Amino acid sequence: MRHLLGIRGMSPEEALGILDEAPRYQDVANQPVPRVPILVGRTVTHLFMEPSTRTQASFQLAAKRLSAEPLSFVPKSSSLNKGETFLDTARTLASMAPDIVVVRSGESGAPHVLAREIPTAQVINAGDGISEHPTQALLDAFTIRKHLGRIAGVRVTIIGDLLHSRVFRSNAHLLTMLGAEVRCCGPPTLLPPGLDRLGVRPLLHLEEALEGAEAVMVLRIQHERMHASVIPSEREYYREFGLTMERLALTEGAIVLHPGPLNRGVEISSEVADGPQSVILDQVRNGVAVRMAVLAEIARSSPRSRSGREGADG
Ligand code: NCD
Repeated sequence: MRHLLGIRGMSPEEALGILDEAPRYQDVANQPVPRVPILVGRTVTHLFMEPSTRTQASFQLAAKRLSAEPLSFVPKSSSLNKGETFLDTARTLASMAPDIVVVRSGESGAPHVLAREIPTAQVINAGDGISEHPTQALLDAFTIRKHLGRIAGVRVTIIGDLLHSRVFRSNAHLLTMLGAEVRCCGPPTLLPPGLDRLGVRPLLHLEEALEGAEAVMVLRIQHERMHASVIPSEREYYREFGLTMERLALTEGAIVLHPGPLNRGVEISSEVADGPQSVILDQVRNGVAVRMAVLAEIARSSPRSRSGREGADG
């Protein structure tokens, strides 16, 4: 795996390889020492052009635990023509010959541009526009498998603003590729076209979508990516699509996932978010181990490792 730009383009073997590898890092992931020397002497550049709390912290920790040289590159993504600014940023970064670049951007396709513009770099997509968020999907799949023992055949229901959600798109690709049965539900104006092609079954009524589910993934309304006119009021949304205890009771004791940030009383009730079926904080914990596994896998196929300069980890 030279880059991780999306789940699309990944094989089931590659995805399962990451999920199988992640438990090795779980002990190290959540404590400061000992570190694993896999990325000694390599820079991991965190290029975050959109706000991020969990993902950024999680990647930073993962890189640190693998002994990388962390580099934070915070460009001014504000006023100017965004395309130009980003290309300039990519070229500036390229002149530093970075090893691994973790990128988050509001523009779909930004990680692909970096991969093209920076010949030395291996690029990991930490969320691009409405396109993909592959490491989130990998950590979600890891969490599902950890709690339910399998992914193939698991009945997963995804609720929310699917149209603007990169988390949804990456999860739809990954979960269907690994044989899960994926249903979804949300306001009709926020359901993307082509769900059938993705292998996901859309249902109009939440009750029907939840019936028999073993895992429920709740996604927030992505206000920043839409026009005011298509947004239902928070109250309306909660009444129709909010995950409450009463609705959760329709499932087969499903685990509840949410990538964060959470809007309590909008897409999920506090009772559910903090309740015994919620694995939301475990997702955050697992995120570090899964990202360590991704970084380690990427490092193994680095051009530097292949040239033999890096020795044993190649
Ligand atoms: C998600 C994102 O940024 O795409 N959050 C995250 O990575 N933890 C989901 C979201 O913003 O709703």
